[in-house]
Order: sequence, then structure tokens, then C-alpha cells
Amino acid sequence: MDQVIYFDNNATTRVDPEVLKVMLPYFCEEYGNPSSIHRFGGHVAAKIESARRQVAELLGVSFRNKDGEATEIIFTSCGTEGDNSAINAALAARPDRKKLVTTAVEHPGVLAYAKELERRGYAVERIGVDERGRLDWNALEAAVDENTAVVSMMWANNETGTIFPVAEAAKLAHRHGALFHTDAVQAAGKVKIDLDSTEIDFLSIAGHKLHAAKGVGALFVRRGIPFKPLIYGGHQEQLRRPGTENVASVIGLGKACELARIALPEETRRLAVLRDRLEKRVQETIPLVRINGDLEHRLPNTASISFEYIEGESILMMLDMFGICASSGSACTTGSLEPSHVLKAMGLPYTAAHGTIRFSFSKFNTQEEVDFTAEKLPAIIERLRSISPYWNRRNEK
Ligand SMILES: Cc1ncc(COP(=O)(O)O)c(C=O)c1O
Repeated sequence: MDQVIYFDNNATTRVDPEVLKVMLPYFCEEYGNPSSIHRFGGHVAAKIESARRQVAELLGVSFRNKDGEATEIIFTSCGTEGDNSAINAALAARPDRKKLVTTAVEHPGVLAYAKELERRGYAVERIGVDERGRLDWNALEAAVDENTAVVSMMWANNETGTIFPVAEAAKLAHRHGALFHTDAVQAAGKVKIDLDSTEIDFLSIAGHKLHAAKGVGALFVRRGIPFKPLIYGGHQEQLRRPGTENVASVIGLGKACELARIALPEETRRLAVLRDRLEKRVQETIPLVRINGDLEHRLPNTASISFEYIEGESILMMLDMFGICASSGSACTTGSLEPSHVLKAMGLPYTAAHGTIRFSFSKFNTQEEVDFTAEKLPAIIERLRSISPYWNRRNEK
């Protein structure tokens, strides 16, 4: 393909060449096992510890043990593993409590595990959201009680970018003796995270959403919380996540976190300008569009736009003809004809939910790419509406 305009960064991001550069020596040159006693392994172990500190710095975690290690960070294989591990550990830490409170708009990394827990006899409450994707706080307050082992709430939603009040929710959970987990897979590197100033007990991230490799992630576990692992094996990660480390990817994740931390203030502003520019141009040039999500509290990089009376899949196909990659919901629901569970929970009418496209930006996107896309969209939408039975029926009325 000649040109690719990649606006699907909430699905995954391009590995930053600087990240790749620090990873490469760990395949064919520095290939020692970090658990080995010899210096070939010891050097790798030291690099893993420095990556752990880089992750901790991005997340605002200042604790270091006597050896200077950021032991509250555990490396995992992905965001999903972090989500499952945190909930599993929280339930084990509160064995007398049999309830999980979460939201209706979590990623399947939490929701599918919640379903499994229901099968095992746990009670699960899924708190709803309003039409802007904002959490129903009163429902949360009513749901968290003395039987609640853990509250799991995403920091930011992957489809709309809506940011949830996680710091307040962690306090609420603690008032009832429950633990608190947040899935920060979409938030990390896009908004400031300062775990030291919150009561959050567990937080999961995934490398591939912030320009590190796929198949690596990290889980923050506040010190003092007993941690029952999800899998059993060797002594790696202080027995909390056995298995030989994904060394190159872990070192790359550290670098990606460092780069994200340094760029954050400026990038946050720049991404919001790109997002707002696209939304404004679309609203000016195309009738019957909606911008979804909490417009005051959302990720700077995410625009969720509903083009009413047409199918999102057709829009994606026509955008693809111009090399523009976007998404019609989360990648995990692609292939299903159902509107996403997030848009459904927001109560979007059928005719809007089906025509919803997510444009998600990264540091590699430019204003030229936004302008090119904004120029192409009106004709695409007009063409699709002209052949849409919903649109034609609406106009006949
Ligand atoms: C909010 C959120 N949580 C969890 C995940 C899962 O991450 P991974 O694919 O690394 O398991 C994703 C991925 O899309 C996500 O957006």
C-alpha cells in the first residue's frame, strides 16, 4: 500500500524505533537468562530492574526496596493478564467476600473474567453509564458493600476515551474494606498517572498501546497486599509471575514508558488539537453526526464519532481505500454485527451505534493526515447514505 494513515492507535501502536533499538541487543547478543548466576545473565537482570523503575516513574510510583528496585511493578504478558491477575489476587486477599463490582463498559479482559467468576458462584455488579459514557456514581455507591472483595474500574474507556473517577472510587472501595483495581491500558502514557497520591491497589498496563511491543505488560501491586499469582512455576518476579522473562520486550516497555513520561505534557496538548480538529471539521461538513464520550473528561487521542443511518463497516472499507485505518469499536468485537457493549451501555440509538467510528491518534500522526481524512469523509458519508435503506426511509417520512 502506498500510504497508510494509521488512526487505530487504541487497538495497537507502532513500536517506536527508539524502543526497538534498545530491544535488539537482547535477541542475539545479550541473550543470557536473567536468572543465571553468571555475569551474562546478571547484566540482563540489571536491565530488567532498570525497566521496572522506568515503568514505576511513568506511573508515579516512588517506592524502591533496599536494593533500589521498584518491587511494586510486576511484568506480565499483556493487559488482559494484568486484569485477570489483579482480580484473582484481590479475591484471594479477601476470601470471606464474594462480590466483584465493575462497570458495564470494561474491556473483555475484565468482563469475561467477571462472567467466569459468576459461574464460580461470585456475585458481580456491572455499574452502568449515562449517554455520555459517564459512570453512574450513585449506583456504584449502592453496590459496594461489606461483601465486596474488589472494585475493578477502567481508568479510561478504549472506545470513547471517557475517563473514570478512579481515585475517588478507590477511596470508596476502601471505606468498605474492598480492594481496588484499575485497567489503565488506555490511560498510561496518555494522561498523567500519579499512583503515590491515590489509594489504588492494582493497576494494569499493556506495552503495545504505548509504542512498545505486543505481548508485554505490567501490573502495579501496592506493597503490603498479599498477592496470589495466577500461574505457578519458578521464582521470577518474586514468585508473583513465574516464567522466564520476555527480556527484550520488558526492556522495550521500560524505554517506551520513559519516552511517554518525557513527552506527556506536550503530546497531550498536541493530540487534543488533532482530535478536536477532526471533530470540528466533521461537524461542519457532515449532517447528523454525534461526538461520543464525556467531552470534558476524556483521552486526548480518541474521537468516537457516530455517522447516523449508515454501517460503520462500510465507512471503514471506504476509508481503507484511501489508506486510512480506523475502527468501528474495539478490535475484540470486530467481526460481530452487534453494536459494541460500550455504545449499547450508553444507550445510543441503533442508527447511531451502528455508524460509529473510532479514530485514535498517536505521536506519529500529523495535522496533514487529519486534514486529508476530513476532506475525504463528507463524500464517503454522502455516498453511503444515498444507498442506505435507513437513510432513505428516514427521508421519506
Ligand atoms: C482498556 C483495555 N484493557 C485491556 C486490554 C487488553 O490488552 P491486551 O490486548 O494487551 O491483553 C485492552 C486492549 O485493547 C484495552 O483497550
